[in-house]
Amino acid sequence: MEAKAVVNSNNISGLIERTLNYVDPRLVDHGKRVASLVYGMLAVQKKYSAKDIQDICILAMLHDIGAYKTEEINRMAQFESEDIWEHSIYGYVFLDNLSPLKNWARAVMFHHVAAVHLPDTLEDRIREAAQMISLADRVDIYLQEHPDSHNLFGYLDRVRGSKFDGSILDLFYEADNQFSMLACLDEEKDFHKILPDVRLSEQECEDYLRMMIYAIDFRSQHTVTHTITTTRISCCAARHMGLSEEQIHNIFYGALLHDLGKIGIPVEILEYPGRLSNQAMAIMRTHVDRTEEILGGTIEEGITRIALRHHEKLDGSGYPRGLCGEELTIEERIVAVSDIVSALLGTRSYKEAFSKNRTLSIIEEQAREGKIDKSVVEVLRENFDVVLEEVEESCRPILDTYYGLRKEYQYLLGKYLYDGAKTADKGRKES
Ligand SMILES: [Fe+2]
Ligand SMILES: [Fe+2]
Ligand SMILES: [Fe+2]
Repeated sequence: MEAKAVVNSNNISGLIERTLNYVDPRLVDHGKRVASLVYGMLAVQKKYSAKDIQDICILAMLHDIGAYKTEEINRMAQFESEDIWEHSIYGYVFLDNLSPLKNWARAVMFHHVAAVHLPDTLEDRIREAAQMISLADRVDIYLQEHPDSHNLFGYLDRVRGSKFDGSILDLFYEADNQFSMLACLDEEKDFHKILPDVRLSEQECEDYLRMMIYAIDFRSQHTVTHTITTTRISCCAARHMGLSEEQIHNIFYGALLHDLGKIGIPVEILEYPGRLSNQAMAIMRTHVDRTEEILGGTIEEGITRIALRHHEKLDGSGYPRGLCGEELTIEERIVAVSDIVSALLGTRSYKEAFSKNRTLSIIEEQAREGKIDKSVVEVLRENFDVVLEEVEESCRPILDTYYGLRKEYQYLLGKYLYDGAKTADKGRKES
């Protein structure tokens, strides 16, 4: 969608950080420390362009993103020692398909493989990036477990030439000499400060934003297309209602961001096959406050409000604020109705996809009860077939990506986990 930038270089890294923090702050901190060590090595090496350095460092920050595949969240505590291949492969497949880091994503797949076991066919630059991330990862985990860095150097010397290429170790020693990296590893830094020259283009910022949204929707097979469907229905209704370009722009981003806070809701609740208990419902409802925290005042106010008000009702019975009709703009009302329609049209763990007629009669009833906007419901009723066509068209590529991603993950898992188990670096157990 062509419009002015909503997220920019200064706030996208904070947005990613706050979003992932909800899943597990330990992983975000680890990612940042690994990125700062890798940045040091790249700065000493002076081989890559500023753009490549930036990409490799963001990759280093996200190198364990495969562990955020939260169907497996319970096992996440052991991800560095047991899940060597699972999180490496899922991380690679995820970043390759859904991030602007395609070019370097393969390095993540091999970030736990010892130098001597890396495939000969690996391009040099991928080998180097994988080794840098691998070394930084091992150093950070080593120091978390034994804060005495003296022993660290002994350990690194012992694995020179086997676990790590000598050239990568030399870069690491040189970078530590020049920047005293280890001494300031524990300083609290936001990602922006680790990488001072980070300059993301508008397109990249939007691509990272979409990456976060897929990270959330792809957690449950029922929600894979929920955000995109809500966005499409909203924009379609807004167009038919004759709203201005600027309003449609805000609706687009408001709808895109509306469920960001669901990253913090446990999958057991998202996927619960029945009516949620009051307690589970209360947790589910916190997703709006979580979205507010993640956005952290960095996104334009009009857009933020649309995102935060999608569960408010005209009669004041909604949440989180119990606002009522006069306080809710037409943009906010459109996204609120579209969110309901998207949920009705989709499958859920507790229901089948509803038909056109059933969906329409449910929203018409809610409009009659004074909960949602009548004029929005009317426009959707009049244009429902067109809306459905547009929705289907925008969902198809996402579903293809989702199923393709799962297939590739299973394939690679078979290839490396079972055939290559012996070659994997067994992580902290060995170290
Ligand atoms: Fe790691
Ligand atoms: Fe929601
Ligand atoms: Fe939603």
